[in-house]
Amino acid sequence: MQVKIIISTVAFMLTMVIMGYAALREPARMETYTLMYEARSMEAGATIYHNNCTTCHGENGKAEECYNGDGEQIACAGRSLHNADLLCGATSKRMSDMQWLGSKHAFIAGTIAAGRSANGMPTWGAEYGGSLEPYEVEYVTKFVLNWETEALCSQPTLPPPDWPETVAELPAGNAANGEQLYSIDLGCAACHGNLAEEGSNAVGPWVGNFQNLDNVRIEGYTAADYMYESVLLPSEFISPECPTGVCAGPPSGMPDNFGTRMTIQDMADVMAYVLATETFEGNQTIVYEP
Ligand code: HEC
Ligand code: HEC
Repeated sequence: MQVKIIISTVAFMLTMVIMGYAALREPARMETYTLMYEARSMEAGATIYHNNCTTCHGENGKAEECYNGDGEQIACAGRSLHNADLLCGATSKRMSDMQWLGSKHAFIAGTIAAGRSANGMPTWGAEYGGSLEPYEVEYVTKFVLNWETEALCSQPTLPPPDWPETVAELPAGNAANGEQLYSIDLGCAACHGNLAEEGSNAVGPWVGNFQNLDNVRIEGYTAADYMYESVLLPSEFISPECPTGVCAGPPSGMPDNFGTRMTIQDMADVMAYVLATETFEGNQTIVYEP
């Protein structure tokens, strides 16, 4: 009898010790599990990103270099995602520009799921008819948010060029270089199409008719004035001729950051290409205030 009691007491104590040890280990085990889960979902997010997003946003998310399925370089249609304006701060610059009141996670996940089809961002979430399940949207959202790093967010932002207030002060433009900028480097062609082909514009108005002044939409402006203002300050005037009807905005569906992404010479070159002229005549004072 006595022996049985001793054995069961010892067995009970042993069980308690083992359970206690397991309980102590639990947080560590959970942490390892969470880390493994995070790593796996990040990897899954990277794959989803690579397969669906790089043609428009680029492999590194900076929308600087994009390739089609045949490996030819094309204009990046998307905005830069690997970008301090979008990712840094609890309310990033982009979130406040878009008057978004929720979290950054919800801003990114919501944009990915619902898309902004009028501006060329496809709908991805299955609940909106897209091809990604909610957990896949979550993975790719995590992958995009992962670009928010100390290094990105502490980078000093370069001041924009000192934009001249009249187009006559721009340097002479080089149309051949402008074609490269328009078609590939700055991505204008992704939205505005090919200058030689009316109807090739996917998102914004076709700008192939700027050469014969058809598209001067504001009284008193020259074509050069109008184009200069449209690129520097897209929301200043919203064009009536998008492929789906009157263009959306303000804010304009055209990115408003060309004033910080382009040099003054880039501007002259793109204008020379679109307007088919080397030097520019203007009537207006256009003040760049982003
Ligand atoms: C066909 C081109 C295209 C593809 C493919 C594409 N996007 Fe986009 N994306 C865009 C465009 C264009 C915008 C800008 C929309 C706007 O200005 O309203 C955008 C905007 C975004 C934004 C919001 C950025 C901001 O600053 O507001 C996020 C986030 C985003 N895309 C993520 C993705 C992810 C993730 C994928 C892949 C699952 C993807 N995109 C695939 C074209 C694309
Ligand atoms: C993501 C798509 C997108 C990109 C990229 C883009 N634009 Fe636009 N653009 C638009 C949209 C949408 C409008 C019409 C809304 C508005 O008037 O602001 C527009 C308007 C314009 C207009 C006025 C057109 C008219 O007929 O009234 C010009 C000129 C223009 N863009 C030039 C450019 C140039 C040059 C580039 C490259 C440096 C460029 N855009 C890049 C979408 C884009």
